[in-house]
Amino acid sequence: PPSVQVRAAQVLEANWTGRSTVPSRGLYPHQWSWDSAFIAIGLRHLSPLRAQTELETLLAAQWGDGRIPHIVFNPSVPLDAYFPSPDFWRSSAAGRAAGAPGTVQTSGIVQPPVHALAAWLVHLADPGLSRARGFLRRAHPRLAAWHRYLLGRRDLGGAGLVSVVHPWEQGMDNSPCWDRPLSRVAPAPARSFRRADLDHGTPEDRPTDLDYGRYVRLAADYRDGGYADGRGEFAVEDPAFNALLIASEHALARIAQELGASGREHAARAERLTAALVQRLWDPAAGMFLCRDVRAGEPIPERGVSGLIPLLLPGLPRDLVATLVRTLCGPHFGLGGTTRLVPSYDLLGAAFDAHRYWRGPAWFNTSWLLERGLRLHGERGRADALRRGILHTAGASGFAEYVDPYTARACGTTGFGWTAALALDLLH
Ligand code: DGY
Repeated sequence: PPSVQVRAAQVLEANWTGRSTVPSRGLYPHQWSWDSAFIAIGLRHLSPLRAQTELETLLAAQWGDGRIPHIVFNPSVPLDAYFPSPDFWRSSAAGRAAGAPGTVQTSGIVQPPVHALAAWLVHLADPGLSRARGFLRRAHPRLAAWHRYLLGRRDLGGAGLVSVVHPWEQGMDNSPCWDRPLSRVAPAPARSFRRADLDHGTPEDRPTDLDYGRYVRLAADYRDGGYADGRGEFAVEDPAFNALLIASEHALARIAQELGASGREHAARAERLTAALVQRLWDPAAGMFLCRDVRAGEPIPERGVSGLIPLLLPGLPRDLVATLVRTLCGPHFGLGGTTRLVPSYDLLGAAFDAHRYWRGPAWFNTSWLLERGLRLHGERGRADALRRGILHTAGASGFAEYVDPYTARACGTTGFGWTAALALDLLH
């Protein structure tokens, strides 16, 4: 049988549209923001040019206020193939004051800022081509404006950290961490919209109709307010979102240096943000970071994988690193004991569900990030084992979107873009 490497490359080939890569032909037939960043990280090993183009296509859809939308719609895909479709978001009309582009249709919310990290890694794959094409010179101002948007408009808690205003922004849509803040949101009536995701996935693997009602309500309210920030009912400071911003600030420092600047302000910002993250979201009793419900003014007492992702950061205090590794390998996440990949939610949590999207299943992007974190902090044996687990499971599951953390059975869709891309990255 063909190797994991060959099959991963086939997935990326099949999902390539000419300017970008879809996460999945059926379930997600457009360009998604954080998917594209992870996909570019793998694609750089097959074609540095395609990886640069992937990020350039996304950056071309940036809004005037700096936000990078979470979906860039492909106009040739039928409207009913995905919900919420462009006629729900109405970006160019409803987002006019926020500077939404008129040339392309997008959503109005964002996703985790992995892009500067991706751009730097893509550059490293072929610095000669990158310099010849002016890849970083053109990307840097856009990436810097993206971070300015987040830090300037999304510090809703006033502590220097960024808030997400919708569960789709953080990317772990139905994580039990959102249950409490979402319970305050009145759901949109079920008859007011039609889900398209259930045409492709088993309902047990997907969020519920009640979740969707709340997602729709929050998105519609944001749209009806012209995508202006600061007013919504849902505002959460999330450890993974902020950690990825910090990792991307570190990458921006490198990018600035490559372009002949000092990069000092990016490095200083990364340090400040790391201190704020620790001060605001670290929970010594849980042995990990917790989300903070900004509207209620309190931490959310649930262990989601998001609270482990700051392991990725170089500037984390040593004792926190040691505690995070213990939590990752202890009974709540089971790595190296009961699980080979990292579950998305506490194995012992009341809301744990081995199949339902982000309420337990293991996803490949979070395991890839934690593999990097383990390696960075000198945990070589654990990093090697996690790498083997990712590669084996990615291949054996047909590059599943996510898997049961105990049995590694495929859930959601297969032929999933970032699963293939991140497996490829670990093979290099
Ligand atoms: C979906 O449609 O399930 C996505 O996660 C939202 O971006």
